Amino acid sequence: MSSKRILFTGGSGKAGKHVVPYLLAQGHSVLNVDLVPLDHPGVNNLTADITDSGQMFNAMSSYTGLDELEPGNGVPAFDAVVHFAAVPRILIKPDNETFRINTLGTYNVIEAAVKLGIRKIIIASSETTYGICFSDGITNPQALPLEEDYDVDPMDSYGLSKVVNEKTARSFQRRSGFDIYALRIGNVIEPHEYATLFPGYLENPEVRRRNAFCYIDARDLGQIVDLCLEKDGLGFQVFNAGNDHNGAILPTKVLAERFFPGVPITRELGEYEALYSNRKIREVLGFKEQHNWRQYVKP
Ligand SMILES: NC(=O)c1ccc[n+]([C@@H]2O[C@H](COP(=O)([O-])OP(=O)(O)OC[C@H]3O[C@@H](n4cnc5c(N)ncnc54)[C@H](O)[C@@H]3O)[C@@H](O)[C@H]2O)c1
Repeated sequence: MSSKRILFTGGSGKAGKHVVPYLLAQGHSVLNVDLVPLDHPGVNNLTADITDSGQMFNAMSSYTGLDELEPGNGVPAFDAVVHFAAVPRILIKPDNETFRINTLGTYNVIEAAVKLGIRKIIIASSETTYGICFSDGITNPQALPLEEDYDVDPMDSYGLSKVVNEKTARSFQRRSGFDIYALRIGNVIEPHEYATLFPGYLENPEVRRRNAFCYIDARDLGQIVDLCLEKDGLGFQVFNAGNDHNGAILPTKVLAERFFPGVPITRELGEYEALYSNRKIREVLGFKEQHNWRQYVKP
């Protein structure tokens, strides 16, 4: 594993505050670019707004800390950009603001990275692109399990912003030839949430239907980001970022029959295999789950 100099946007948020420490533990150095700092040993912070292109170009051509002045060789180059900063769902800001901040911010981050020659860019997309999470009423997917070749079709401003971001990423990848990977992140679970949230999820599985019963442990998400940093040469890629199993006690077959009746199942699934498939990250990146919910919650 090589140590990389990484610019991470949105590292102070729910997911980033676990992913950034994971990356530091792998030996990388991280500059967190966010509206608010992350108070974690070893993290350098730069307060900046992703919707301001000038700030993104500036941040990506910046020293990360006073220590980098010492060698006297000028500003070192970033090896990678990991872009998590966003408005993370609908109903936090007006819909048009969610769309504006997420799409313009992502455009600015990718454009600055590509034009400054940073050849590895990883962006946070979302499970919501599959169109179930924030749909009006109860919507069925076209097929299960949800896999990356799905014709994504959200009907909300947040999910749409993430679809647009994937297109932006693909466009910049095509022009530059760099590696740009979009992670369709599932519902992020922090370590303490196995105690606070999971008992309710297991008792009332219907509350997880809009997530297709998926979850991603925040530390396992760190592993996925690190694997993306290590794996070069894939061009533009979309990866579902989820854990191996559904976040439910019921077997997959029962979940599918009860909550998605009539939806075609396109391949054979393991007894508890996630309907939000993580097969691609296992096969292409070598992801090995470390934090299954059953380690932390007794049904
Ligand atoms: N939490 C989930 O379950 C989930 C699921 C799927 C995808 N995602 C995506 O993963 C990423 C991280 O999500 P999260 O749950 O940690 O969200 P979060 O809101 O907790 O963190 C987002 C961070 O981005 C920062 N930010 C927001 N606007 C900014 C701006 N204009 N400039 C700079 N920084 C800004 C915020 O200060 C915050 O620290 C987001 O892109 C989100 O859409 C999250």
